[in-house]
Amino acid sequence: MKSKTSRLDRFIFRHSEFSMSDVRLLLAQGRIVVDGCVAQSIQQKVTEFSRVVLDDKCLQDRQPIYLMLHKPKGVVSATKDGKHTTVLDLINHPKKHELHIVGRLDFNTTGLVLLTNNGAWSRRISLPETKLKKAYEVTVSKPLDDTYVAAFREGVYFAYEDITTQPAELEVLSDYTARLFLTEGKYHQVKRMFGFFDNEVLALHRVCVGPISLGALEEGRSRALTANEVAIGETLGAL
Ligand code: URA
Repeated sequence: MKSKTSRLDRFIFRHSEFSMSDVRLLLAQGRIVVDGCVAQSIQQKVTEFSRVVLDDKCLQDRQPIYLMLHKPKGVVSATKDGKHTTVLDLINHPKKHELHIVGRLDFNTTGLVLLTNNGAWSRRISLPETKLKKAYEVTVSKPLDDTYVAAFREGVYFAYEDITTQPAELEVLSDYTARLFLTEGKYHQVKRMFGFFDNEVLALHRVCVGPISLGALEEGRSRALTANEVAIGETLGAL
């Protein structure tokens, strides 16, 4: 998801009847206000969430939205689906049509799904370079032992993409249950990592994405992220 940033002169050209060359004059006359400050440069960056006012006309005033959902089993991580309930169907927000999913979960996986309309934020949360740990609770069909811990730490080879997974931490909780910490999100990654041992994943639940944790949020419910949770995505650095 690309972040939508443009130069002030291009933005004004696209959102008003003025040409790009008119913008210098508008600036000199102090007629453009960005986020409450009189604009100073035609090269000033305008993001998709900057509030831009020209004279007494507001050209853009969009609020970023950040939500978490406790996804139940049998719900599709998509915004539209002809057959099944989608994560968006479970969201009650007047601007939910603007949202996209930050890291999908499979149909039968439960747990934490983040949704936002801020592409830059979701990119920072998702990129493996940010090394944000996603924690999963896993139930498998065959007993676990320390060979899994070592193999996941080393990385598992996925022949289809010809890649080795990033080092992952596995905490074995019982013979059939474990907590797995991943810093990336390849297609069906958890199932394929256990599939390397021919061990079927029977239940999979995402508990947290970095410090953003599902906590006691009930299955099927959603809530807005707190300012501190949003800040986690802001402080991962501009990538
Ligand atoms: N890995 C999987 O295999 N499935 C998920 O839903 C998430 C991670």
